[in-house]
Amino acid sequence: MHSVKLDLKKRSYNIIAGCSVLGLLGKQIRKLNIGLDAYVITNSSIRNKYGRVLERALIRAGFSVRFKIVPDTEKSKSLTTAYSVIKDLAAYDRQKRIFLVAFGGGVIGDLAGFIASIYKRGIPYIQIPTTLLAQVDSAIGGKTAVDLAEGKNLAGAIYQPRLVLSDVKFLSTLDARQIRAGLSEVIKYGIIKDAQLFRYVESRYKDILKLRAPVLEYVVARSSRIKAGVVSRDEREEKGIRTILNFGHTVGHAIEAASGYRIYNHGEAIALGMLVASDISRSLRLIDDNVPARIEDLIKAVGLPTRIKRVSLAAIINAHYRDKKFIGSRNRFVLITGIGRTKIVENVSLGLIRQAIKRRLD
Ligand SMILES: NC(=O)c1ccc[n+]([C@@H]2O[C@H](COP(=O)([O-])OP(=O)(O)OC[C@H]3O[C@@H](n4cnc5c(N)ncnc54)[C@H](O)[C@@H]3O)[C@@H](O)[C@H]2O)c1
Ligand SMILES: [Zn+2]
Repeated sequence: MHSVKLDLKKRSYNIIAGCSVLGLLGKQIRKLNIGLDAYVITNSSIRNKYGRVLERALIRAGFSVRFKIVPDTEKSKSLTTAYSVIKDLAAYDRQKRIFLVAFGGGVIGDLAGFIASIYKRGIPYIQIPTTLLAQVDSAIGGKTAVDLAEGKNLAGAIYQPRLVLSDVKFLSTLDARQIRAGLSEVIKYGIIKDAQLFRYVESRYKDILKLRAPVLEYVVARSSRIKAGVVSRDEREEKGIRTILNFGHTVGHAIEAASGYRIYNHGEAIALGMLVASDISRSLRLIDDNVPARIEDLIKAVGLPTRIKRVSLAAIINAHYRDKKFIGSRNRFVLITGIGRTKIVENVSLGLIRQAIKRRLD
């Protein structure tokens, strides 16, 4: 079991990662003194698989439990779903001792966190992420949001959970594509901040894909530590520190959007975005040729895409210019100077961006 503290003074919280750590949940929540009634937001598939074990762990520790089921789709990250959950919450919240539990992947986590941030101007919530992507990334750091028709994650808040509990046991029912998507973010952490983690994934990716618990535990804990460290130093992305987490995301988001969120999932799109960003880094002579080659080898080995299919250059460039990470008309890229080292570069020429994307197009 690993415990990582995300240090934000009075709003600090622990991230607990391990195998079968769900048993620790009740005691951990009791210590936080955040209420007695757990309002668990989840979907029916997760409820069917793991609802009973969660319920038992909470009841054993003296909490009451109510499940709120939302549909299993990104569409649940909407104001409409948030509104219907809040209505249910308000009707149920008679004794005023409720806290929320986000029990699922990034969709559930973002939605539940958003609801926690606005209901009664903020109530406590905890994250129990059940996908690799959520365990290493979305459950940590307090970015909560719902999507609007105008774009993803446009309505939201930074609102930190009181606890993150990542049990790698949940990952045993995740399909391979979802595991690879989470692994893409793990590889990102290696590239931006942790050469040792990168080497670890290079040597152990087969065990990760086979869902070997100790290996998953190491990867989740190490990634959590990196994200927690970055967020604690720059919670609101004001100092250019949290920005490094966007490595691969500028072009990755554009690829996701240009493909109508249908061809690639988030992890796959950012794998492609990381390849483009490392290409740009090489064109600017920030790194030697062997670094992009090593990154590409690993991305390919774990089964993530290395070629962009069925999306045009024009569509990607268009989506790229709509990205909210642009400051005015200037762009801002997280580039690398080696495995584990980043450099933020503004105003990368459109020519260079086009060239790097073009090299990846089929
Ligand atoms: N807040 C942040 O910082 C942040 C960061 C990255 C991504 N996100 C958001 O996260 C979302 C994507 O998250 P995701 O990749 O976890 O997708 P997801 O939440 O849609 O989960 C993927 C699928 O896996 C299923 N699932 C979840 N746990 C399972 C388990 N243990 N066994 C079997 N199936 C399981 C879900 O029901 C779903 O069908 C996006 O909305 C994205 O915007 C947020
Ligand atoms: Zn991401």
